Amino acid sequence: MYTPMNILVIYGSLREKSINKALAQAIAEHKLDGMDVELCGVGDLPLYDQDIEQSAFPPEALEFKRKIAEAEGVIIVTPEYNRSMPGSLKNAIDWSSRPSGQHPWGGKPVGVMGASSGARGTIVAQYDLKRIMNYFGAHLMGNPEFHLDNSDEKITDDGVLQDEKTIAHLKKYLESFKSHVEKPIK
Ligand code: FNR
Repeated sequence: MYTPMNILVIYGSLREKSINKALAQAIAEHKLDGMDVELCGVGDLPLYDQDIEQSAFPPEALEFKRKIAEAEGVIIVTPEYNRSMPGSLKNAIDWSSRPSGQHPWGGKPVGVMGASSGARGTIVAQYDLKRIMNYFGAHLMGNPEFHLDNSDEKITDDGVLQDEKTIAHLKKYLESFKSHVEKPIK
């Protein structure tokens, strides 16, 4: 029986009216036929602390790791804070990497996207994230890239991606990501 490709979309903002959450929702709205999309925030994880890890590994972190492990592909949608990713997203990634050596990222098809109110559209934050994914040995998609800049012109106040050019690029990005997930690592 045919089963759809399950894609986990992690968005790295805690903000109610987050433009990155809006972008994650746009991925779900414009997903391709044959694709299932689950959205995942990072706000329910405690601040990483090795003492907590060793005394009682948080169930939220286990659940986060399970979702990554079970997804056929993961897209991470990151805001940019001070030319890097927000602490909340880094915190989630740190939890996912524990216990040491037992992370779910090895060989995992991963895409990185982001939205910013500024002119450069999270390009630096995305590189930071890609660096970590390379360190994990994830199967990272390098191209195409997706940087949503000047979000005020493209995302409505109630969080809807409305810019036709960006929507067209998003659909192309998802087509490339689908092929990337299907492509075995050489
Ligand atoms: C920002 N913002 C920002 N934008 C950018 O393009 N590059 C940057 O380095 C920063 N730095 C930065 C730091 C901090 C602390 C904040 C709060 C904001 C602006 C940022 O793109 C904007 O606030 C987005 O709306 C954040 O994404 P979410 O939370 O709406 O998804």
